[in-house]
Amino acid sequence: MMQVRNVRIPFGAAPRYWFSGRRAATHLSNALNLLFPVGERFFIRSVRHYVDRVEDDPELMDQIHCFFGQEGNHAREHQRFASFLESQGYEVRPFLDDYERLMSGIVERLMPPVLRLSATAACEHFTASLADNALRSPVFQEMHTEVKSLLLWHAAEEIEHKAVAYDVLRRVDSRYAVRVAGLAIATTLLLVWWAMAFRMLVEQDGMTVGEALADLRSTELDGRHRTPQDVIRSAFKEYLAPGFHPWNHDNSALARDYIETMALTEAA
Ligand SMILES: [Fe+2]
Ligand SMILES: [Fe+2]
Repeated sequence: MMQVRNVRIPFGAAPRYWFSGRRAATHLSNALNLLFPVGERFFIRSVRHYVDRVEDDPELMDQIHCFFGQEGNHAREHQRFASFLESQGYEVRPFLDDYERLMSGIVERLMPPVLRLSATAACEHFTASLADNALRSPVFQEMHTEVKSLLLWHAAEEIEHKAVAYDVLRRVDSRYAVRVAGLAIATTLLLVWWAMAFRMLVEQDGMTVGEALADLRSTELDGRHRTPQDVIRSAFKEYLAPGFHPWNHDNSALARDYIETMALTEAA
C-alpha cells in the first residue's frame, strides 16, 4: 500500500499561531517540525548503509525505496516549512546549523552503523505513534488547513512505512540489547533537541519556558487529545516488549482513509 506522493504544501496563509490560536502548542509543533529534515535524511542514510544485506528480499527492497522517497519528500516540505517560520520573523538558521553540525558531523560519526539503524527504527516508532495520535485527534482537525495538510500527509505516510527500518534491523541484528540501545539513543536525542528547539522558539516569541509550559497545560483540551508526552511515554513502553513489531498494532486503515480524502498538490 506504500506509495511516494510528491506533494507540495502551500503555507502562505497560515497564521503565526496556526494551532487553533494556541501559542505554546504551536511552538511545540513547530519545534518538532524543525527537527525533521536533518532527522529524516539521517534515517535514509542509516537504512541505505544496509541495503546490500537485504537485497535478497524484493518486497522489503520495494518498501525501502518507497521509504527513501517518502522521507525525502517529508524532509523537503519541512525544510520549506522552516523557511516559512523565517518569513514569520523567527531566526531559526543558527539553531538548524548547530543541530545539523552536531547530528551529522559528530553524533552520526561516533555511532556505529548498527546503532544508527537501531535508533532510526526507534525514531520511526515514535513518529508513527505521534502520527496515529494526530490522525485520530479532533484537535488536529481544528488547526489551520495548510499546516494540517502537511502534518496529516506526513502522518499517514509515517504509518505506511513504520516497519521498514525495523524490518531491516531485524535482518541485520535482531538482538534485544541492540534494539533497546537504539531506543535509549533515539529517546535522548529526540527529547533534548525537541526541548532546545521549543525553548528557542518560545524565547523568540517573548515567553519564558515556564510561561510556555503553563500555557501548554492550560490548553490541554479537556482530554480530547493525547499530549505528545503521553504518546512518547506509551510508545517507549510498547517498544520495550520483547515481541514488539510495528504492525502488531495494525492502523493501516487510518492512514489509507486519510490518503483517500486528501487533495494533493504535486511538486513541480
Ligand atoms: Fe517522515
Ligand atoms: Fe518515517
